[in-house]
Amino acid sequence: MSLFRTKSVEQSIRDTEEPEHQLRRELSGLDLTVFGIGVIIGTGIFVLTGVAANQTAGPAVAVSFVVAGIACALAALCYAEFASTVPVAGSAYTFSYAALGELVAWIIGWDLALEFILAGATVAVGWSQYFAVFLETLGITLPAALAGGEDGAFNLPATLIVLILTAVLVGGIKISSRVNAVIVTIKVAVVLAVIIIGAFFVKGSNYTPFVPPSEPTDGGSGVDATLLEAIFGQAPANFGISGIFAAGALVFFAFIGFDIVATAAEETKLPQRDMPRGILGSLAICTALYVAVSLVVVGMQNYAELDTEAPLAAAFQAVGQPFVANLITVGALAGLTTVVMILMMGQSRVAFAMSRDGLLPRWLSRVHPRFGTPYRITIIVGLLVAALAGFIPLEELAELVNIGTLFAFALVSAAVIILRRTRPDLRRGFRVPWMPVIPILAVLTCVMLMMFLTVETWLRFLAWMALGFVVYFLYGRRHSRVGKAAADGGEPAPDGRSAGTS
Ligand code: ALA
Repeated sequence: MSLFRTKSVEQSIRDTEEPEHQLRRELSGLDLTVFGIGVIIGTGIFVLTGVAANQTAGPAVAVSFVVAGIACALAALCYAEFASTVPVAGSAYTFSYAALGELVAWIIGWDLALEFILAGATVAVGWSQYFAVFLETLGITLPAALAGGEDGAFNLPATLIVLILTAVLVGGIKISSRVNAVIVTIKVAVVLAVIIIGAFFVKGSNYTPFVPPSEPTDGGSGVDATLLEAIFGQAPANFGISGIFAAGALVFFAFIGFDIVATAAEETKLPQRDMPRGILGSLAICTALYVAVSLVVVGMQNYAELDTEAPLAAAFQAVGQPFVANLITVGALAGLTTVVMILMMGQSRVAFAMSRDGLLPRWLSRVHPRFGTPYRITIIVGLLVAALAGFIPLEELAELVNIGTLFAFALVSAAVIILRRTRPDLRRGFRVPWMPVIPILAVLTCVMLMMFLTVETWLRFLAWMALGFVVYFLYGRRHSRVGKAAADGGEPAPDGRSAGTS
């Protein structure tokens, strides 16, 4: 039964009061919304819109954004309830420790590592694609071997940006969130410019056919089929109605990040009030912007001609507006920078919580005496993200991120129902309406989108999770603080060591 041992919500909150392992509580509701938008708008809209429209959905990519947005909104409501009930670092990991027990918590924590580390790398690669456009306007071309992309051996710009941001994060969250506020403003302004200026260049003819007819994937083999196609024994195909959903499963990436707002609960002044506002507010704004941007971009250029590396800038170049294209490029560079930074911060916070619980080595979670940041974890995460961004192509990374995140969302949504049953007494700053309909719909829509991801992505995901089980049974299970305390017949001591262990 110890696999299902839970950490009580009260214990989670008490742990945050240990001085050595304490983060500063200084973010407000507005900070959180800015923080949310800072991480949500990124490579998803700046790069994947082009990929999804060009290869999978055609102009109907706008509908794909709606589909993904609905799944996220349902899951966001569940996240908001959890975050407002269990306001400690670690997001879904912490929530599930309280509701579903240690093994599930570990699975989610391990799964979130996949999400954040790979997503950080994905966005850094997207950044490097806009950086290449930027250098071109200055007349500079990087040697192909160092420029990433299909022919490059190593992506130097992506690696460098990650290392620089790691240093900023070690320096402290307050500096980072101020920088973030300025950059978010620039990023939203650029997105609005795409919508407003781009609208003048829309041609009605580009919208037909709105849903291009289904066609077989070029050179697609069995592992390129979606899980759904594989189950029904169909060959891999693009476009058509199922293309809309497959593109939804890809552009889902564009919404990732609102869940990271929840990871900052421990650094929030009034989590009960501010978390739901931060999460739902940033998600609503981003959905509206995405649908508008994608409608404009597929209206400016035929979907078959859309660029798949830096599509928003390329669309303005195609209609003879290089100045606007340059503005977008610079804005995208600034905007994607904060996304990478916050993703890495999210991962540091989850690893911080896991280490504090003893599921990862405790020495990892020491905070810096002067900066108050979990610097050891931050540096390790930074090095990992830099290495991945240096070597792996964007779409492969993005799909893997999505499957991990959808899985975490489904588990969190299920956990909301369970925690209502097991701990009806807890004070909830925000309650999901229409229980249990919303969480059930959240689980169903997330699982449905997962079915539209490829067999290859599923196999990689399962391999990562299998590795997680090995690590848990070899390390976490034996070092868990909750487990040690249970063996001694009590809750973990506040200094981080359970009675009788050293
Ligand atoms: N949602 C973030 C992006 O699109 C991760 O880059």
